[in-house]
This record gives sequence, C-alpha cells and structure tokens, in this order.
Amino acid sequence: MFREFEDRLAVVTGASSGIGLATTRRLLENGARVLAMSRTMGDLDSLRSQYATKLKCMKGDVTKSEDLQTLSDLARQLGQIDYLVPNAGIARLANGMEPSAFEHQWAVNGAGALNTLSAVREQLAKPASVVFIGTFLSQITFPGLAAYIASKSALKAHAKTLAVELAPQGIRINLVSPGPTATAIWSSLGLPADQLSDVAGQVNKRLLSGCFLDPAAVADTVLFLLSSASRGLYGQDLIVDNGYTLQ
Ligand SMILES: NC(=O)c1ccc[n+]([C@@H]2O[C@H](COP(=O)([O-])OP(=O)(O)OC[C@H]3O[C@@H](n4cnc5c(N)ncnc54)[C@H](OP(=O)(O)O)[C@@H]3O)[C@@H](O)[C@H]2O)c1
Repeated sequence: MFREFEDRLAVVTGASSGIGLATTRRLLENGARVLAMSRTMGDLDSLRSQYATKLKCMKGDVTKSEDLQTLSDLARQLGQIDYLVPNAGIARLANGMEPSAFEHQWAVNGAGALNTLSAVREQLAKPASVVFIGTFLSQITFPGLAAYIASKSALKAHAKTLAVELAPQGIRINLVSPGPTATAIWSSLGLPADQLSDVAGQVNKRLLSGCFLDPAAVADTVLFLLSSASRGLYGQDLIVDNGYTLQ
C-alpha cells in the first residue's frame, strides 16, 4: 500500500495485542522493520515467525525508565527511527473522585507515551512521524472512565503543543483517536461479563456500521498519519470511530 515504508524503522509500544499488534502487522506488510515493545509477547509470536528478519521484539513496560532506556539502546543498533507509535494503554473503571485512578492510568497512557518519545527522541530521523493514540471518549463522556478520558485528553493537549515545538526538527506529530474497537481492553475494564455485554450492546447501537471497529481499521489510519500521504497534517486528532461521536 505504502512503498515508502520499505526497510524504514518503526517503533511500536503496546504491540502484543489489539491496535498495536494490528499496526505492527500493517507496518511489516508494507515492508517496514519494526521494533515492538510490550510487557508480554502476546500475539507477537505469530508475527515473529512470519517476519523473522524485520521484527524485533522486547519485553518492556513504558512506566519503567530502565525499559525505555533498553528500547532506546536496541533502536540505536537498528538505525534511525522513521516512525514512532507510543500506543501502550490501559483503561480501568474507577470512581471519578479518586485521584489515584488518574495517576495510575496517566502513568501508562500519558507519561508512558511521552516518556517513550523522550527516550528515543535523539534517534528520530529527519523527517520522522509520530502518532499518539487518544480516544473517541475525549469528545464525549463515559461514566466510570473519567480518569481514563482525562489521561488521554491530557496526552492530546500535550501532543498538539509538542507538534509545534518539534516540527522545526523535522518531527511531525499527530494523534489517532479510535472509537470502540474490538480488543482486549474492554474485558480489562473491570466489568462483570454480563454488564460488559450490556455496555457492548448499547455501544453497538450508536455505531453507524453497527459493530465495533476492527483493529486493522485503526491501524490503517495510523499508517496514513505515519506516511507522507498525510504530510500536511500537524497536531491533528483523527477520530476513527465508526460514527459513534456523530450522534
Ligand atoms: N479498543 C478501544 O476501543 C480503544 C478505544 C480508544 C483508544 N484505545 C487505545 O488504543 C490503544 C491500544 O489499546 P487496545 O484497544 O489495542 O487494547 P489492548 O489489546 O489491551 O492492548 C493494549 C496494549 O498495551 C500494552 N500495555 C499495557 N500496559 C503497558 C505498559 N505499562 N507497558 C507496555 N505495554 C503496555 C499491552 O501489552 P502487555 O499487557 O503485554 O504489556 C497491549 O499490547 C490504547 O492506548 C487504548 O487506550 C482503544
């Protein structure tokens, strides 16, 4: 699809499942080399056998500075980084009045993403493209997810100003905000199975396609923003949500 990815180096965090895994797969399909990080290997194992020479994986936690240092060291061995997707994220239902819920989720969703950029900043190519992952929920509300939404909204605000600050150095920064996407994050929210099923039913009714997004649909938008096809976009938030926030 995008010839320009051939042999370029991409770094993706949260690559073991869902959107990160789909993004890693799409990058590999388009010829890129990928350095993938997550705490577990998850479903990366199947990609590793298929793309043995192009895919390098490491176990690491974006909240740990020593792991981000290792990521940076590994990347240095592979060359300059053309594309960065700090995608690792968590979502937990919590009392909106509980500050520790924000701290916990910000540590991964916000600080984790920004510290990932910071760790590899000096190794970014010129030009380089960075795509952060926000959420459709920054447009609306979702009781129980105030801390999650706040963590992603703060990341979005941070990313927009960073887009201005880093543009002179050839670093183009944008955000993809996925809508409800069929990944493991929903079952990690902390809802009993029957309630989760009710929530999914209600969410489905607002989706213009009638169903949750496929992670590959989000990955395709990430690749568009990484690619030069989006070269005029700086600090934008592309909401890929099957129309959820339209009504
Ligand atoms: N699915 C949706 O509906 C939706 C909607 C809007 C935004 N998003 C965002 O999309 C991104 C990807 O989520 P997903 O839906 O694909 O969920 P997912 O399948 O649960 O994937 C989350 C990924 O993040 C990794 N991760 C979590 N904590 C980490 C940490 N501390 N360090 C490193 N890796 C970590 C997980 O791997 P390990 O557990 O192996 O570390 C996993 O690979 C997240 O930022 C999420 O907030 C998702």
